[in-house]
Amino acid sequence: MTALLASSFFVISAWLGLALVRQRSQTLAYAKKLSENRRDTDILLRLSKALEEARSYYDIQLATNSAVMERLKINNTWIYLATPDKPDVLELLSFVGDREGVIRTHTATLHVKGDAMLEEIMSSRNAVVVEDARTDPRTNKDFVEKEKIRTLVNVPIIMADRLLGCLGLGTFGDEGIRRFSPEEIIFMEDVATRTAVTVDRQRQFLISQQEQEERKKAEEAVRNLNKELDERVKLRTAALDEANKELQAFSYSVSHDLRTPLRWVDGFSQALLEDYGDKLGDKGRRTVERIRAGVQKMAGLIDDILKLSHLTRGEMHVEEINLTALAESVARELTALEPNRNVEFSCVKTHPVNGDAKLMRVALENLMGNAWKFTRNAQTAKIEFGETSIGGETVFFVSDNGAGFDQADKEKLFNPFQRLHSDAEFEGTGIGLATVKRIITRHGGRIWGDGETGKGAVFYFII
Ligand SMILES: Nc1ncnc2c1ncn2[C@@H]1O[C@H](COP(=O)(O)OP(=O)(O)OP(=O)(O)O)[C@@H](O)[C@H]1O
Ligand SMILES: [Mg+2]
Repeated sequence: MTALLASSFFVISAWLGLALVRQRSQTLAYAKKLSENRRDTDILLRLSKALEEARSYYDIQLATNSAVMERLKINNTWIYLATPDKPDVLELLSFVGDREGVIRTHTATLHVKGDAMLEEIMSSRNAVVVEDARTDPRTNKDFVEKEKIRTLVNVPIIMADRLLGCLGLGTFGDEGIRRFSPEEIIFMEDVATRTAVTVDRQRQFLISQQEQEERKKAEEAVRNLNKELDERVKLRTAALDEANKELQAFSYSVSHDLRTPLRWVDGFSQALLEDYGDKLGDKGRRTVERIRAGVQKMAGLIDDILKLSHLTRGEMHVEEINLTALAESVARELTALEPNRNVEFSCVKTHPVNGDAKLMRVALENLMGNAWKFTRNAQTAKIEFGETSIGGETVFFVSDNGAGFDQADKEKLFNPFQRLHSDAEFEGTGIGLATVKRIITRHGGRIWGDGETGKGAVFYFII
């Protein structure tokens, strides 16, 4: 009995001992795994922090390569990135290790097509491991032989389904073949995933920077073009101004010089009439009188040209003016000159404008003078000065219910000496509206007229 008890005790304690040993080794393995996990987490955390702070591809490669080297104790690591416009061409972003020189010279650019390893990465989007490059069918044997390549691992760098490139490592020569555990490959994939985010951010940053630079260049080009255009406009305006001034000076001096011989013709024809009138006979006297009338008309035209050129040559004195007050004063003058006419004037209050009061008075004198003249035959003449709004712009107008004109001729109105009515109907030289147009144009404005034969006319202007 005792023997039985003793042997049972022995079996139980042996069994317990074994169980304890097994548990202890399990605990040790578990503890090792935990510490490995903690080390990986620590490396990855440091990597994430470094990537977050990365401001260039160089910072990215430094962070990534040092994480891989620290964890996998490997001498040579690299990152290739797909070029944005050619996704099947990979460019070497970085290479860290003693083989850098060779790789930079021979494989700085990789073409996916024809490269079995890269094609596999592209299609499977998984890590590709070549344990022994010398025997693996996916490698270029000449290159492997020359560079003594042994083990190669490449993992894809993927961001939101886009393959941005690959992260790789390798062993060479004496380092021999290296068998990577599934945990080590998972670690590399983890590094690649973290790198992807930063690579993508950097790429977007560079693209937006490039876009900004391109936009800046385009803006600069537009600015230069505008400047050039501005200068050309300035030059042309100056040339035009010069030509205009010359033309004005020319017409002024011609008109001025013409007056003297005209006076002679007038004076001598008068002398002819006075001294030899009885010898000329009736017909001869009438002819000389016609000559005098013609000469006087011509003198009148010349005076008008001189007035026009005075108007456009003088300095402008721009101030705030009340056009209604000016129109009212013109109306009073017109009425005083022909008090017997039956004319209803209406001058409504208008917005003040900036302009030269003297010039604007001349413009209103001509517009209202025309309205006065061309309503001569109306039973009750109605002349209105006011303002209206066309397309959001304030437009002033002078309207009348007089003879009007054919709307088809409206373009001719403002040409100097252009008249739409005969002298017999309405007297005039045809310089009034040309003067008004010059005045309004000098104010940077526009003028146009509307009319209907027998019904009246309206002249609109904006200044
Ligand atoms: N209110 C109007 N009604 C009808 N026709 C007009 C009116 N204003 C101008 N016109 C037409 O336009 C022509 C040119 O006008 P403008 O004022 O330039 O010349 P004018 O009045 O004939 O002569 P001037 O003003 O030089 O004495 C006029 O001859 C006339 O045919
Ligand atoms: Mg006139």
